[in-house]
Amino acid sequence: MQKTFTFKNGKTIHRLGYGTMQLPGKGIWGPAADAKQAASVITTAIDNGVNFIDTADSYGPFYANLYLRDALQQRPDADVMVATKVGLTRQGPDIWTPVGAPAYLRQQVELNLFSLGLDHLDLLQLHRIDPNYTLEEQIGELAALQQEGKIKQIGLSQVSVAELKAAQKIAPIVSVQNRYNLIDRADEDVLDYAEANGIAFIPWFPLATGKLAQGETLQQIAAKYHAQPAQIALAWLLKRSDVILPIPGTSSVDHEKQNITAQDIDLSQADFDALAQLGK
Ligand SMILES: NC(=O)c1ccc[n+]([C@@H]2O[C@H](COP(=O)([O-])OP(=O)(O)OC[C@H]3O[C@@H](n4cnc5c(N)ncnc54)[C@H](OP(=O)(O)O)[C@@H]3O)[C@@H](O)[C@H]2O)c1
Repeated sequence: MQKTFTFKNGKTIHRLGYGTMQLPGKGIWGPAADAKQAASVITTAIDNGVNFIDTADSYGPFYANLYLRDALQQRPDADVMVATKVGLTRQGPDIWTPVGAPAYLRQQVELNLFSLGLDHLDLLQLHRIDPNYTLEEQIGELAALQQEGKIKQIGLSQVSVAELKAAQKIAPIVSVQNRYNLIDRADEDVLDYAEANGIAFIPWFPLATGKLAQGETLQQIAAKYHAQPAQIALAWLLKRSDVILPIPGTSSVDHEKQNITAQDIDLSQADFDALAQLGK
């Protein structure tokens, strides 16, 4: 199992990353109860070797990016690759609406730069394809921003293989972020396509929003490795494919410390196969 992944532009990161979505308030809306604690979850990740962090303008909105900026400013020497997203708007707690108007995507790229305190975005993912605009309009605008140097690489989120192939005709696509975890593997075809083409596959809900912190089989196997079930669920993803970059989300420093050590668990093939049965 490779512990690192190299993007097509040569940037190498540790495969086990971190996702900021759990940091804002309930329903991913408004501020965290404790902004300092939110930033300290991120500095804990960075201090333990995490150098791939996923975020989005729509988390909060913007609060997650502000906590990430705070953490990055506390660790100026850390070489962290930030992956952010544009294309989803927010109207309230748990409400998400795609908007793919090119002018809006461009504005959000600028607002990501402001809120993250960065002069370029290492990886910009289209959060959702908006059916009200053509793919050429949406990916074309991101390609223009790439030409201008504001975006280094382009990724997609929640797409089919057909959509991924269509987007690749407009601009190079280096990553795809789809829902995928041990018990939810509807997008195996997208993962297989990503693996065959050296595209990063970033599974969201890697812990099934915490559900994979429980479960009998997981608990039994976890006990063998003196580990927690959440760590085993992450270790399974890491073993499944070297293009998988899990980005578990947590608002807890203790959970973050636990999640990071999942990369040190080497699951036996028998345990990997037994766990795979949970998703059948
Ligand atoms: N592209 C998309 O459309 C999309 C959609 C959703 C998410 N994402 C990205 O994917 C990332 C991961 O998804 P997610 O955060 O929604 O779900 P997740 O990582 O599957 O699960 C997060 C949940 O698991 C709990 N948890 C985390 N570590 C744990 C541990 N060691 N033990 C017990 N419970 C633990 C967290 O609670 P605590 O806070 O209490 O630890 C939280 O409730 C997000 O942060 C975001 O960056 C992308």
